[in-house]
Amino acid sequence: MRKLRAAIIGCGRISACYADAFQRLSDMVDVVYAVDKDSERARAFAKKFDCKYASDFDQIPEDAIDVVHLCLPHYLHSPMAIKAMRAGFHVLTEKPIALSIQEADEMLRVERETGRKLGVIFQTRYTKGVEMLKQMIANGCFGKITAARSYLTWDRPKNYYAQSDWKGTWDKEGGGVLIDQAIHSIDRVRYMLGDDVEWVNGSIHNYAHSFVRVEDSANAAVMFQNGCLYNLYACNIYGANSPITIEFLGEKGRCGLIQDMGFYELDGVYAEIRNAYEDTAVGPNYWGSSHHLQIRDFYQSILTDTPVRTDGMEGRKTLEIIKGIYLSSLKGECVSFPFEDVRYMDLNKAAKGPSAMDKPR
Ligand SMILES: NC(=O)c1ccc[n+]([C@@H]2O[C@H](COP(=O)([O-])OP(=O)(O)OC[C@H]3O[C@@H](n4cnc5c(N)ncnc54)[C@H](O)[C@@H]3O)[C@@H](O)[C@H]2O)c1
Repeated sequence: MRKLRAAIIGCGRISACYADAFQRLSDMVDVVYAVDKDSERARAFAKKFDCKYASDFDQIPEDAIDVVHLCLPHYLHSPMAIKAMRAGFHVLTEKPIALSIQEADEMLRVERETGRKLGVIFQTRYTKGVEMLKQMIANGCFGKITAARSYLTWDRPKNYYAQSDWKGTWDKEGGGVLIDQAIHSIDRVRYMLGDDVEWVNGSIHNYAHSFVRVEDSANAAVMFQNGCLYNLYACNIYGANSPITIEFLGEKGRCGLIQDMGFYELDGVYAEIRNAYEDTAVGPNYWGSSHHLQIRDFYQSILTDTPVRTDGMEGRKTLEIIKGIYLSSLKGECVSFPFEDVRYMDLNKAAKGPSAMDKPR
């Protein structure tokens, strides 16, 4: 099978997961370009693969690559993905797909127009627990799923926000704990349940991050079309990165995840589902260790010209839940799907709380 030629655009924190994945997937890919506007970061990444580096995507010659990996600030996902697809490259972007539903729709339109493939990274889907439990839910093992919950209590202190000029901003990050950290739990609940949303009702708050204007806490009720009511809570002011918990409650039993470990309780039996590679995380353990699995999956879909499993539409649907919660918080009411989305440049009114409302940055 022919090898793909890849470029990574953005060599910041998450690029360590890509360096790991490219090494594991050396039978499928040659890394040919590392790009970062900070050319020292691009050079350092390129050194690992003995490849070229550049400070601007436009410096990559036509026909030099097949696929680009976008590891960029959120506001650049949509414009860069569109540019790359128009240049003839397949695109796998980090989450979130974009900052607005309109931007995501434009990406999907350009994907159709160019015939390129578009994928969105949700690596936490690629674990044994998620796959097995999704199948068991679909097979009706737990009966009808009536409720779900996810609970994320993490910590992102001041120095986390100080490391990047885009984090903690509405116009560049697109929000706080929901769009950056809780997006993975929200995505897994939606993916494992396999259903679409009817309405959301939620609120976001900034209780203790006076140095940023985005939300540090959020809670919401999300009603799926099949009648499952999903309750979520997320904050990044907890003081530690405790394991995420996700749970589905069915008529015959329950199942869920504690971080990446799956579990279920059925007919009086409790069982756990673990990954063989749980200890191989390259970054903080809450990033998981499955980037390489999703990237392999994406490469397979290019090489065999088959549909992308976690595609742009999947990215759009998860973004829609998050944007629905922001809108619900802003309006103080329930938001029915579909709704008119906007790309918030400054949504301070939505992040209720002493920090966001009253203090300038
Ligand atoms: N999947 C996960 O679990 C996970 C974890 C962390 C981050 N991420 C995602 O990865 C992406 C990057 O996050 P990060 O934490 O690595 O951010 P970062 O700020 O550490 O890195 C971003 C990099 O992009 C570069 N950059 C900015 N504008 C550029 C441009 N126009 N051209 C080229 N390079 C440019 C910056 O110089 C920087 O090196 C985000 O989408 C984030 O949500 C995902």
